[in-house]
Amino acid sequence: MRLTLCKAISVVKRACARHSPDIHSDFMLILGIESSCDETAAAVVRDGCEILSSVISSQIEIHRKWGGVVPEIASREHLVKIEPVVKEALSNAGVNVGEIDAIAVTNGPGLIGSLLVGVNFAKAMAFGLDVPIIGVNHIEGHFFSVVFENPPVEYPAMALIVSGGHTNLFLSKEPGSYELLSRTRDDAAGEAFDKVSKLLGLGYPGGPIIERHAREGDPKAVPLPIAKISDGKPDFSFSGLKTAVVRYVREKGIRPVGHGEEPGRHIKDLCASFQSTVVRTLLKTTERLAKEHRPKTLIVAGGVACNQELRAESERVGAKLGIPVYFPSKHLSTDNAAMIAAAGYFHLQKGEESGLDLGADVKIRLQNTGTDAAAGNGKKLPYKI
Ligand code: KG4
Ligand code: ZN
Repeated sequence: MRLTLCKAISVVKRACARHSPDIHSDFMLILGIESSCDETAAAVVRDGCEILSSVISSQIEIHRKWGGVVPEIASREHLVKIEPVVKEALSNAGVNVGEIDAIAVTNGPGLIGSLLVGVNFAKAMAFGLDVPIIGVNHIEGHFFSVVFENPPVEYPAMALIVSGGHTNLFLSKEPGSYELLSRTRDDAAGEAFDKVSKLLGLGYPGGPIIERHAREGDPKAVPLPIAKISDGKPDFSFSGLKTAVVRYVREKGIRPVGHGEEPGRHIKDLCASFQSTVVRTLLKTTERLAKEHRPKTLIVAGGVACNQELRAESERVGAKLGIPVYFPSKHLSTDNAAMIAAAGYFHLQKGEESGLDLGADVKIRLQNTGTDAAAGNGKKLPYKI
């Protein structure tokens, strides 16, 4: 079993202050559980801001040979790993299971089979321990991933959440309120990295591999388009970019890289140009909407936030607009359970709690204010057992 232990990290305690309504709290230990995609993760978090342990069992090696996540394999792996991962999280935190005050679990969005493993394990534990359980939206978890290592988030905040499954820009006027300003119309940014990497024979997951080769390429070598949405909405789109890469590969007769082979200049240039186009696409809209909505903090989170060019360019935009940009460190950018515990803490402090009828909801939305929320787009598909 490959467990990546994320050591207890140094914590900026006051980072939580803004996220937690000012009500009584002395020392709350939350067990976070995350299994929405291909990471089985558990963490013990104290008072929503101090990570006592964070264990992540990644399935990357298992899915690599298929070039992407295979849902059935993912859920079977979660079943095997969930118990040892939770046990290891408790043991690394030096906490007895009976000391846990509440359980926070991702209940959507994600892969249904994967989500159900975490949700049902968490419900069984909550029932056995007689402690509250709170279902957490995975995307809200990414939002909360910045609370551990940054100063308090000042509101209104804008959050660019970029991962393998999601590319969203939220305006959060106050803690717990999310207005969706922009989303992807097709592929998520991370998904585009993964697809282009597969096309070039570079492997999975694509983001870190493309970033590595991009360092040796020329970002101006291949002209690639930034998509424009015809209805004028500030949404993102990455499928046209992927098609442009396919066309370029065909025109230039570029062969996918063979196993263990070092990519040539054409591919490195293409990686650099592609990465730079994704980053420019994301930040052009972010900058425009930040000028319009004038947030006090910009959050950039999710797996793609590991990308150094995205970080550097986000910092540049933040500096230009005079607002701080908060990122999670790398092990908190990709999927983890500490962020789920932090988001769960916020809701529990507000007096919210889920029941033991908590179900997995693959299409759960985070937006709870603004026109998109009111329009009721993306109907819920609840799965309960
Ligand atoms: O947040 P995450 O772990 O899972 C989801 O919620 O989807 O994000 C995984 C995604 C993958 O698509 C991966 O290729 C991308 O994050 N990613 C990166 C980098 N590291 C991971 N994308 C660009 N550059 C990176 N360094
Ligand atoms: Zn994620």
